[in-house]
Amino acid sequence: MIIDKLLPTDLFRGKTAFITGGGSGINLGIAKNFAALGANVAICSRNQGKLDTAAAELRKLGAKVCTAAADVRDPAAVAAALAKSAQELGPADVVVSGAAGNFLCEAEKLSPNGFKTVVEIDLMGSFNVARGAFEQLKQTRGVIIFISAGLSWLPYTLQLHAGAAKAGIDNMMKNLALEWGAYGIRSNSIAPGYIGDTEGTSKLAGGPVLDAVLESTPLGRLGTVDDIGQAAVFLASPLASFITGTIAVVDGGHYLGGSALLNAAQRQVAAAATASGSTS
Ligand code: COA
Repeated sequence: MIIDKLLPTDLFRGKTAFITGGGSGINLGIAKNFAALGANVAICSRNQGKLDTAAAELRKLGAKVCTAAADVRDPAAVAAALAKSAQELGPADVVVSGAAGNFLCEAEKLSPNGFKTVVEIDLMGSFNVARGAFEQLKQTRGVIIFISAGLSWLPYTLQLHAGAAKAGIDNMMKNLALEWGAYGIRSNSIAPGYIGDTEGTSKLAGGPVLDAVLESTPLGRLGTVDDIGQAAVFLASPLASFITGTIAVVDGGHYLGGSALLNAAQRQVAAAATASGSTS
């Protein structure tokens, strides 16, 4: 982590960051970057065991930590998690809606429930978090950050469900920027590219697809969770005080080349799986 060498370590002292999906991966990386700059951090996910492990790592960075187990599909559970966070750490200055679910599936094989499940976790979940956090954000004149993806505006094969959900998230993000700007609340998205050592990348870009990712990324590497954490810190900081309604693309330039290389590699993998009788 380099953030604490570049920015003041008290930048977020006395501030609270509430992060869904914060038990692992990109969202835990975001939590760590805030913790390293003095924030109190609340992490929310379905799995209390993961949250406990993540909380220990965050406390090592000096943060006061609250854990709240909740499924973002359940508005009452999200409201309870936000209330617990406010009670233990004070109202949220920063909310990161990062919880997501995804899998690869060809459109003609996707069941209505498969589509609904991803839309409910990603899009409905993000609405539940934003709506539930409104009073706290209004009180703090805070910041909400959604974790989107390039597939919000660029179609990727086998990703119809997630693309629809992320496009919805980005549209909602802009609507909230429009409506909640009046309360001093800023609303932005981060669209991460492929990030190394995460469940997302291992689930969505195995084998030849990973080669296609690297080949189609001008900067020639996978991202790190700190690349995303640093972008989140910037967007939440006073350095970004006039930035709202935008998508920060943090992908090494990957989306500029389009998704054609990946799509070809995904089709090969899907065809091989169909031939061998296994599913993705
Ligand atoms: N291909 C096709 N359909 C799939 C699938 C796959 N690989 N995985 C799940 N589905 C379908 C199921 O078949 C089911 O539909 P059905 O009832 O018509 O059969 C539907 O999706 C719901 O699946 P279920 O396993 O009951 O959902 P869940 O709520 O337990 O889990 C997931 C949600 C599927 C998104 C699961 O992968 C998850 O919890 N992921 C979280 C972590 C994650 O994905 N991280 C990476 C983010 S990039």
